[in-house]
Amino acid sequence: MENFQFQCATKIIFGRDTENLVGEELKNHTKKVLLHYGSGSIKKTGLYDKIIKSLNDAGITYVELSGVVPNPRAELVYEGIELCKKEGIKFILAVGGGSVIDSAKAIAAGYYYEGDFWDQFEGKSQVEKALPIATILTLPAAGSEASPASVVSKGNRKLAIMADCLRPVFSILNPELTFTLPAYQTAAGVTDMMAHIFERYFTNTKNVDVTDKLCEAVLRSIIKNAKIVLKEEKNYDARAEIMWAGTLAHNGLLGTGRVEDWATHRIEHELSAFYDITHGAGLAIIFPAWMKYTYKQDMNKFIQFAIEVWGIPGNDEETALAGIAATKEFFRKIGMPIAISELNLDVKEEDMQKMAEYATKFGELGSFVKLGSKEVFDIYKLAE
Ligand code: NZQ
Ligand code: ZN
Repeated sequence: MENFQFQCATKIIFGRDTENLVGEELKNHTKKVLLHYGSGSIKKTGLYDKIIKSLNDAGITYVELSGVVPNPRAELVYEGIELCKKEGIKFILAVGGGSVIDSAKAIAAGYYYEGDFWDQFEGKSQVEKALPIATILTLPAAGSEASPASVVSKGNRKLAIMADCLRPVFSILNPELTFTLPAYQTAAGVTDMMAHIFERYFTNTKNVDVTDKLCEAVLRSIIKNAKIVLKEEKNYDARAEIMWAGTLAHNGLLGTGRVEDWATHRIEHELSAFYDITHGAGLAIIFPAWMKYTYKQDMNKFIQFAIEVWGIPGNDEETALAGIAATKEFFRKIGMPIAISELNLDVKEEDMQKMAEYATKFGELGSFVKLGSKEVFDIYKLAE
């Protein structure tokens, strides 16, 4: 096991009706917030009205900034930074999925940065300080409700920042708020959280039994409950398992003491940057291809994966490959695309070349197996 430090400071407020606590909870931190949300789902579901009531009851004033789109854009971040400065706002409340939360984090970091906030995403400057944020999560997927990361797009570049000060102060998770999710978004969320575990599970670090077993248990729980929520969208217990799994998958706990990989996420981010596809759908396409490309690096780990996660008996290469096939089949069954061709986007070989170059612009990807642009291109081809 590697040395590590772990601190996930985000307070999680989980359960039925917890969105009504937002005003009282905010009172511990601020009197005024930027209320940041997406394209309107929170108004349709009635969540918006509940939040406004809770803020008013607690005497919290607010300024709204809506319009965050999936794969959130830099343009709204610039607007948010200016708005916070103009209105004297020192706290952001993000209501939505990963895109809204990531947009809020980018505003929070950009607020204190003197230059163009995008410099931080290009790695020209580290994030040292950010406005505090809180979230009400409506889509279990990205794990941004407790993660230190934010992912934002500008032009066809999709880049990330990472800093502990970006972890939300508190996040409200009410599984009932996910009843209205379209099946496709539920499935993409499930895929994303599984991918967050895969990025940590496939490691060259040895003697990490505790986190291996945690990863396997969370994966099995996601697989079991995903099948339920896709049939019964209002099954509270299954929605609750999925929601909590999404946070645990990406709050850092499952990666403690191990070197993480993250090549697949970088490879996928080029796909969603170039073609504006759903992140989880891109991962369903890329992860099985990455697994196929790298499994020989540690056959035993892939055999363990097949046995412990998918219940496939055996102890040889066939078992390892069956585990990868089961992963792909699961993604297909829950309604995800499993090949680039299924996106109907006319992705040409030269586009794959360009994406491979962009993905490796800051150096080789991954740690389980190191990937340069040629290898990344090969993985796009395998996923074709
Ligand atoms: O905009 P609204 O109207 O809210 O609609 C959203 C959006 O269209 C809708 N939605 C959300 N909750 C809903 C709902 N519709 C009905 N009922 C609800 N309860 O769902 C759509 C997708 O939302 P989005 O926030 O884009 O999805 P997700 O949570 O999957 O976030 C994806 C983004 O997170 C990034 C991804 O790259 C992508 O940009 N990631 C962020 C990470 C992080 N910060 O740690 C890590 C991840 O690996 C990921 O890269
Ligand atoms: Zn992800």
